[in-house]
Order: sequence, then structure tokens, then C-alpha cells
Amino acid sequence: MRIILLGPPGAGKGTQAQFISQEYDIPQISTGDMLRAAIKEGSELGKKAKDIMNAGGLVSDDLIINLVKERIAKPDCANGCIFDGFPRTIPQAQALADADVAIDHVVEISVPDDEIVNRLSGRRQHPGSGRVYHVQHNPPKVEGIDDVTGEALIQREDDQEATIRDRLSTYHEQTSALVGFYQEKAKEGADAPNYDKFDGTQDIEEVKQQILSALKG
Ligand code: AP5
Ligand code: ZN
Repeated sequence: MRIILLGPPGAGKGTQAQFISQEYDIPQISTGDMLRAAIKEGSELGKKAKDIMNAGGLVSDDLIINLVKERIAKPDCANGCIFDGFPRTIPQAQALADADVAIDHVVEISVPDDEIVNRLSGRRQHPGSGRVYHVQHNPPKVEGIDDVTGEALIQREDDQEATIRDRLSTYHEQTSALVGFYQEKAKEGADAPNYDKFDGTQDIEEVKQQILSALKG
């Protein structure tokens, strides 16, 4: 099963991807997490991505498409994967279609802009796994510590209020067009992906139940 998670920054894509990954035993492919790992390693890709990410812009389509193509060729993607934060532009979606990567479900998680700033300022992340927490909505068992590894949680550099607002503008300008793109694709016939939209302002658990039941349907 191949799934695309679509939604603005902070909608809960990473949070829900982890649940789907466990349920279906397929990997979460988060281009954001891959880019943050590249920055940490100090690779060429990381050097190119760092300033763009901290300014809330998008890394170039060519770099991202290559990164994803290499990732989905790995054996753990044989039974499918969850795309979290990819595609993010029409050319990225077109590259996926041109490479004949069939998508079964597109899951849109919708959250209004006002709520995003509050959400992202309370986010904490385990850098090794990408596991996400929220100081109020989904706190770790011990403050500042990852439940699974016992390692320290961090705040993402792009979770500053001004950068969050830039990321939201980028979403509306460049990514939200994918909603129409995939809604149209969903009408194309038997092999077309299913398209479902979820209200991401509900509890994490409620969103999870609704998504998992739509994927089974
Ligand atoms: P990326 O890492 O993908 O960031 P994003 O899209 O801005 O999304 P986030 O990770 O911020 O949010 P999320 O939807 O995963 O929410 P989460 O589950 O963490 O990308 C970062 C940057 O990399 C981009 O800005 C760009 O520069 C670059 N990039 C990445 N992919 C690219 C691409 N394809 N092309 C070009 N550039 C690319 O949840 C957020 C918080 O809310 C957490 O604290 C969580 O606990 C909490 N929460 C989740 N659900 C709920 C709920 N239902 N109720 C209450 N709280 C909740
Ligand atoms: Zn994320």
C-alpha cells in the first residue's frame, strides 16, 4: 500500500504516519526528516537545504525527486510506504506519476492556520527516529525525554513563529494546489487513488481511528 499524507505544516502528518507505519508495517518516508539528517551529517545536500529550510522555503524539486527515488528503491519499500511531506509541488507529483509509482490513498489532514502556530511552538522531536510529541497534546512520559530510547528531545529550528508563518505561506502558494491535483486524479477510474480529507483539529486518537478505518475501507 502506498499512501500520501497531505497537509500544512503541523497538521499531524508525522504523528499519523507513525501509526500507519506500525499498522501496515511499511516505512514512513519523511523528506523533512531526511533533509534534517543530511544537515546533521554535513552532506552536500544538507548544506544546500539548511538555509532554505530555516527560511521556510522549499528545497529544489530536482534534489527532492532524486532523494525520494533513491529511497523508494530500497528493499523495505517493497510492500509500500507512506509519503510524509512529499510531493509538495506539482512537478514533484508529476515526477511520481511519470515514474509509474502507483498511489492507493491520498490522506489530506486539514488544520486552520491559527492553530498551527500554537501546535508547532509546543512540538518536541526525537531527532534519531523523527518521533514527535507535544508539550500539552501528546507529552512524553518524562519531560524532554523520548519514551522509546531515553534520549533527549529537541525543538526544531524552523519552529520559530516567524518561520512557521513563512512555511504556511509556502504551503498555500506551492503545495495546496496538490489538493485539486489529487482530487482530480481520484476521479480517473479503477486504478485511481482514493482521496479522503480529515479534520486534523480533532484529538490525535480520533484522527488516527478515522484514517485507519478509511484505509481499510
Ligand atoms: P517537514 O519536516 O515535512 O515539515 P512540515 O511539512 O512543515 O510539517 P511538520 O513536520 O512541521 O508537521 P507535521 O504535519 O508532520 O505535524 P506533526 O505530526 O509533527 O519539512 C520541513 C522543511 O523541509 C520544509 O519547510 C522544506 O523546506 C523542506 N522540505 C521537506 N519536504 C520537502 C519537499 N518534498 N520539497 C521541498 N522541500 C521540502 O505534528 C505537529 C505538532 O502537533 C506535534 O507536536 C504533535 O504532537 C502535535 N499534534 C499532531 N496531531 C495533533 C492533534 N490532532 N491535536 C493536537 N496536537 C497534535
Ligand atoms: Zn512532519
